[in-house]
Amino acid sequence: MINKTVLITGSSRGIGLSMAKAFAEAGYFVIGTSRASFDLEASLGTKECLHIALNVTDRPAIIEAVKDLNAKSISPSVIVNNAGITKDQLFLRMKDEDWDDVIDTNLTSVFNITKAFLKSMVKAREGRIINISSVAALMGNPGQVNYAASKSGIGGFTRSLAKEVASRNITVNSITPGFIESDMTDALTDEQRSLILSGIPAQKFGDTSNIADLAIFLASDNASYITGQTISVDGGLYMS
Ligand SMILES: NC(=O)c1ccc[n+]([C@@H]2O[C@H](COP(=O)([O-])OP(=O)(O)OC[C@H]3O[C@@H](n4cnc5c(N)ncnc54)[C@H](OP(=O)(O)O)[C@@H]3O)[C@@H](O)[C@H]2O)c1
Repeated sequence: MINKTVLITGSSRGIGLSMAKAFAEAGYFVIGTSRASFDLEASLGTKECLHIALNVTDRPAIIEAVKDLNAKSISPSVIVNNAGITKDQLFLRMKDEDWDDVIDTNLTSVFNITKAFLKSMVKAREGRIINISSVAALMGNPGQVNYAASKSGIGGFTRSLAKEVASRNITVNSITPGFIESDMTDALTDEQRSLILSGIPAQKFGDTSNIADLAIFLASDNASYITGQTISVDGGLYMS
């Protein structure tokens, strides 16, 4: 791939930050986003990066960000749709806004961000879109009707768009992480942790670097013939 520029949404912590570090180490110029401002340069230890404070649900702000990048002649060849939230609640108690927020942040954002950058990839006839889903999309999870629905939507998005753009040398894949050590898993009680661990054949939670390693591979030339796939990184938690 000629243009080694990656845009990663939600890159200020957890899986997104780990991917940002891995892409920087692999020689990419890294555009990282999060709602809060964040010193990406200090975190990555390189000037070959740019942080944009951006809410992935804010379409006008995304359009402005694309204009700013165009003005700087920066055009990502790899997009990683990673920003995501949970607002867990049993279905009968789930508030309308908990449904709307999770669908907007986890699924509609993938449409928003991809739409904003796909045209330039089509023009360049190269590109990689990597969507971060969740094993909850495949297994379902009580209390996560909104989250699992948003992440399942990513599967259909990935397969359909992959078919549309494969002939343009653009691949679209999704990663379904299992339980990865992060702020999300830190919120679990000891009891919840041991219950979850008992269902994971590898008997341990994953590391954010496990997701980053796959993202780097999917972005590479070695993965040029892999598209429309949903790949689990979950220690064997879900096997279809
Ligand atoms: N951790 C796991 O075990 C696990 C398992 C399966 C799937 N996943 C998925 O992996 C992805 C990353 O998870 P994580 O655990 O690393 O999450 P995290 O630690 O909570 O980080 C989420 C990132 O997304 C950003 N973000 C959230 N809402 C945003 C919005 N509206 N606009 C822009 N940025 C936003 C956050 O920054 P700001 O708050 O500053 O915006 C932050 O940088 C998510 O899609 C998650 O669903 C995680």
